[in-house]
Amino acid sequence: MATSEDELFEKAAMVRKRAYAPYSKFRVGAAIEDESGRVHIGCNVENAAYPIGACAEASAIGAMIAEGGKTIRRIAIIGGGEAIETCTPCGGCRQRIAEFADENTEIILKDGAGHVRRFSVAELLPESFALKPASQL
Ligand code: THU
Repeated sequence: MATSEDELFEKAAMVRKRAYAPYSKFRVGAAIEDESGRVHIGCNVENAAYPIGACAEASAIGAMIAEGGKTIRRIAIIGGGEAIETCTPCGGCRQRIAEFADENTEIILKDGAGHVRRFSVAELLPESFALKPASQL
């Protein structure tokens, strides 16, 4: 059975609670539905050496690839400190999402008031960088 958008947000909210964010106190959870309907989750994992912390989206993409998923059909993201805000993915994560996206991929964000915003990759990362496979060069 296909995962509903509500279920995807529920999973993102659940994994957000497991985030390791002692420095920023900004917890983020992400849930990806892949091309076969499987769901992969990830949260941000900070580090005392700040720049090496991982974003929730990167963690969820890592889980998807490790479990054999290929394409992001939808990625639901929930983040915030005390209050949940609309957490738009950082620039690096937009590029990470683009790597495993197609023209139908949706990035869906929900704030604490329950407002949902949805974007395509082209909207969040216009004119994005991509390499052609070596066979097409
Ligand atoms: N963060 C994410 O996990 N995803 C985003 O899209 C934006 C930011 C994390 C990184 C850091 O642990 C914390 O949120 C504050 O920037």
